[in-house]
Amino acid sequence: MPEESLYDVAVIGAGYVGVPLAATFAEAGQRVLLVDVQPHIVEALNRGESHIEDVSSERLGALTEKGLVVATNDYELVKQAHAILIALPTPLSRQREPDLSFIEGAARSLAPVLQRGQVVVLESTTWPGTTREILQPILEEGSGLKAGTDFHLAMSPERVDPGREDWTTKTTPKVVGGISPESTSAAAEVYRAAIDTVHEVSTPDAAELTKLLENIYRAVNIALVNELAQLCDRMEIDVWEVIDAAATKPFGFASFKPGPGLGGHCIPIDPFYLTWKAREYDFSTRFIELAGEVNNNMPYFCRSIISQALNHGAHKSVSGSKVLILGVAYKPDIGDMRETPAEKLIHLLRNAGAEVSYHDPHVPEFDGMTSAALEPESYDCVAIVTNHSGIDYADVVRRGNVIVDFRNATKGHEVDGKVWKL
Ligand SMILES: NC(=O)c1ccc[n+]([C@@H]2O[C@H](COP(=O)([O-])OP(=O)(O)OC[C@H]3O[C@@H](n4cnc5c(N)ncnc54)[C@H](O)[C@@H]3O)[C@@H](O)[C@H]2O)c1
Repeated sequence: MPEESLYDVAVIGAGYVGVPLAATFAEAGQRVLLVDVQPHIVEALNRGESHIEDVSSERLGALTEKGLVVATNDYELVKQAHAILIALPTPLSRQREPDLSFIEGAARSLAPVLQRGQVVVLESTTWPGTTREILQPILEEGSGLKAGTDFHLAMSPERVDPGREDWTTKTTPKVVGGISPESTSAAAEVYRAAIDTVHEVSTPDAAELTKLLENIYRAVNIALVNELAQLCDRMEIDVWEVIDAAATKPFGFASFKPGPGLGGHCIPIDPFYLTWKAREYDFSTRFIELAGEVNNNMPYFCRSIISQALNHGAHKSVSGSKVLILGVAYKPDIGDMRETPAEKLIHLLRNAGAEVSYHDPHVPEFDGMTSAALEPESYDCVAIVTNHSGIDYADVVRRGNVIVDFRNATKGHEVDGKVWKL
């Protein structure tokens, strides 16, 4: 460790992961340097203003005021930190291949400032092998230091679930795997200063795959219920009733809900990091591909339900109908739009000639539109895409003409011939 580190941790990337991570360390009394390339984000953070919903400005402001969180775009300051936690985006390219350019770019900025004794940890979700094959060589070549001897290197995947309040960065166990037992211990010690439970694994690859397993598990199980929902539609069985009933089994069943498609930064994207890497081993990840196919088809299936509902419920075609999309964020009670299935559905409805508006209390503007007033009676059809809890769904059913509910938000208020469910 550099003698007398000014900061206990530097967090690289002040986004959905980095800001809650920084706040969690600072609340444990750790001095945090938050590094981001966007000057306006750095300036706002230093004024105590948070752009991330999970960390209120009040919470951040208390920490910046005490000097426990300092934001910068100057990588030179990272020299003064004991640990460096990298929380940068790992998207897919247009060809749906892993895009590690953020990680590589940051590694190239970090290498020249890397100090003996520092602990570097990758938090970003990625394919097994990234820490050793991509991060380690860039850091070693640019610094002249050796990982495992001169500095420690580990992987510890972030598990943030935006909007969740029962489990936080502090209380969610942290999986840590280093390139050597010493690196694992050094990284685990860094996290133990702020996080309740740390679970050590033997390699960074195991830590990387742990995160992918968690997300693939969700993607596959969501696909399973999405497929079941389509069958239930033909069989005229209420899939929601079946899932609720199965969930009464106290063991051996975890409940997943169908919906209009996957959203967010993780579930629609991360599984394909493994698919890509598996090809190198002449292996095809068929569950992942199949889940992707079923989940990607859901907006098309949902368009057909809207079409059926308009046809039978209002004797109208999609073309020329006024449709209100209720909720466009990718999940309830937040304004996060990343990969939201609403975008695809809106596009499909517009292509079919519908006049589409939306209402979302968390998203003032979207896709060139502003959130319309919630006046269900003004539309031929209201399609519930995201079940924000602040909406009075009984009132939506009462006032609306045709309601299509993809989230079971109208449970208990169903009216035959008026409410159509996935
Ligand atoms: N968002 C989630 O819900 C979530 C949950 C679990 C895991 N993850 C994973 O965590 C990782 C980080 O995702 P995120 O959602 O926090 O990203 P984000 O897009 O919210 O934030 C990234 C930030 O990094 C900054 N940045 C880009 N390049 C930089 C550089 N070279 N140096 C410093 N800053 C730079 C950007 O300006 C941005 O503010 C991803 O791998 C993601 O898969 C995300």
